[in-house]
Amino acid sequence: MCGIVGYVGPKKASPLILSGLKRLEYRGYDSAGICIIDAEDLTIHKKAGRVVDLEQSVDLSHLTGTVGVGHTRWATHGLPNDVNAHPHTNNDGSIALVHNGIIENYLTIKKKLINAGYTVASETDSEVLAVFIGMLYDSLGNLEQAVQTALQEVDGTFGIVVASTHEPNQLIAARRGSPLILGVGQDEYVVASDAAAIIAHTRQVVYLQENEMAVLTRDGFTTKTISNEETHSVIEEISFELEEIEKGGFEHFMLKEIYEQPITFHDGFRGRLLVDEGNVRLGGLAKVQEKLRTAQRIIITACGTSWHAALVGEYLIEQLARVPVEVEYASEFRYRNPIIYPDDIVIAISQSGETADTLAAIREAKLKGATVLGMVNVVGSTIARETDAGVYLHAGPEIGVASTKAFTSQLCILTQFALYLGRMRDLTAEAGRELAQGMAQIPDQIRSILEHAESIAHIARQYATATNFLYLGRGYQFPAALEGALKLKEISYIHAEGYPAAEMKHGPIALIDEHMPVVFIATKDETYDKVLSNIEEVKARRGTVIAIANEGDHQIDRLADHVIRIPTTLPMLAPILASIPLQLLAYYIAVERGCNVDMPRNLAKSVTVE
Ligand code: M6R
Repeated sequence: MCGIVGYVGPKKASPLILSGLKRLEYRGYDSAGICIIDAEDLTIHKKAGRVVDLEQSVDLSHLTGTVGVGHTRWATHGLPNDVNAHPHTNNDGSIALVHNGIIENYLTIKKKLINAGYTVASETDSEVLAVFIGMLYDSLGNLEQAVQTALQEVDGTFGIVVASTHEPNQLIAARRGSPLILGVGQDEYVVASDAAAIIAHTRQVVYLQENEMAVLTRDGFTTKTISNEETHSVIEEISFELEEIEKGGFEHFMLKEIYEQPITFHDGFRGRLLVDEGNVRLGGLAKVQEKLRTAQRIIITACGTSWHAALVGEYLIEQLARVPVEVEYASEFRYRNPIIYPDDIVIAISQSGETADTLAAIREAKLKGATVLGMVNVVGSTIARETDAGVYLHAGPEIGVASTKAFTSQLCILTQFALYLGRMRDLTAEAGRELAQGMAQIPDQIRSILEHAESIAHIARQYATATNFLYLGRGYQFPAALEGALKLKEISYIHAEGYPAAEMKHGPIALIDEHMPVVFIATKDETYDKVLSNIEEVKARRGTVIAIANEGDHQIDRLADHVIRIPTTLPMLAPILASIPLQLLAYYIAVERGCNVDMPRNLAKSVTVE
């Protein structure tokens, strides 16, 4: 949700900022802008569209300044046009600001500014903050104090970087609720929303803490809280390699990430899964082990794809560990005053570790005394830091806006968590071994599905003009159906619904006609025969059936129009395998429709506003 880059150092800032912005475009891509301090003036260029549109619209090579900021936007307040694009400035153009987040009380502040004779040109909350800092500077005559005072008065969330002609060798950065990372180089600093914009310059980073601000010059940096308390920064190392955020020969990041799944799934259990013992070693949970042993209830909270993973987690934990589980949309959880007991375990699942709704949910759970665990991909992210304990997904950077490898890694972690909990309780070593052996085979089974990608592409091309899709599955495959439908609508803009297959007759069956492709996940488990009956019902109404079925299952051939085969595994592992062809189906349909797969319209990779 908006990407920010700032640079201060000896090098020409503009190329460095632009390349950083391109790496952050997955966070937002409806407009982009840059501000360079040149000959003690602020030079600003901004434009609706992507970073490349900005580059093509104006010659930026004449900008020789070595201090500057840039922004790529995902609109919250105001249309994605040139005026609303960042950076925004104060009224005399001496202070420029880039912002990620939402200033909730911007209307109150705006009124105050207008009463005092200041003007605001855009529809954004961010410009209000820039003008407000300018007003405070006019009375205080000190930039750092002006920024700090403004931030003490604003409600909402922000990651900001400020550049100004008043302090031309300085940048001021601050965060509350939106991530900011400070890359520490040799006489230079890169401040950005994500390490992806930093790694090409340095691996040494400082994660700014909540309510912390930093003042950066070529000579060093200082930090303190917005309310003026001293803070101490710890320099950490970026945990991934530059190649991991490149496309590596694939046409899209999404396709690359789909193909990475044999490895990322394996990375999720490497060193953790003890196949011979039928158990799991999860070092990150050691300190809460006793709480887990006695927990009476687990609540899992998440959004989007991570919420679908949570649903699979519910089934797994209840089946293997016999602990009741509730799955909550993070966005709903916080606002309904949830009942939480001190011995409850609340688990937050998040790829980015920055989703505002999920973060708010865990803060609520902590406030009520629960033990809060994280299952997060991005190392050092806010959720990872704010949880009491957790397990990293180890899926590596996920750049495609549509989550793929993070989903299967979430299932990998949830399966191990359920096994770990089960073995602490009543699950036998034999049952544990059977599951662990099944998991160990998954990477090769994913590989074998990927080998047949072309046949899925062939089916996709036939249905790329459909306007609606239904995805149906039962048991463990119901969340997989939801996830398949989400993938399709996100990247191809085709309306798609996921349903439990047996629910179809309670309403959605009215939608079935010859124009409605229905994707059935019909793998062998205890509900298989019932799912076959549901397929019959669709065929009886002239619907088209695309079935995901097990290798060797020929019963389905006479019913389905198309069969996509996946290897046989345990029912509780089957959604992992089923999700691979569903990702490919969505991908190839979107490509056929000419959609921007990695940057679908209106979306952003991590949603850091509520
Ligand atoms: O980073 P998170 O896992 O917390 O993100 C949650 C959702 O925003 C995310 O899964 C979203 O639904 C994806 N675009 C799905 O592909």
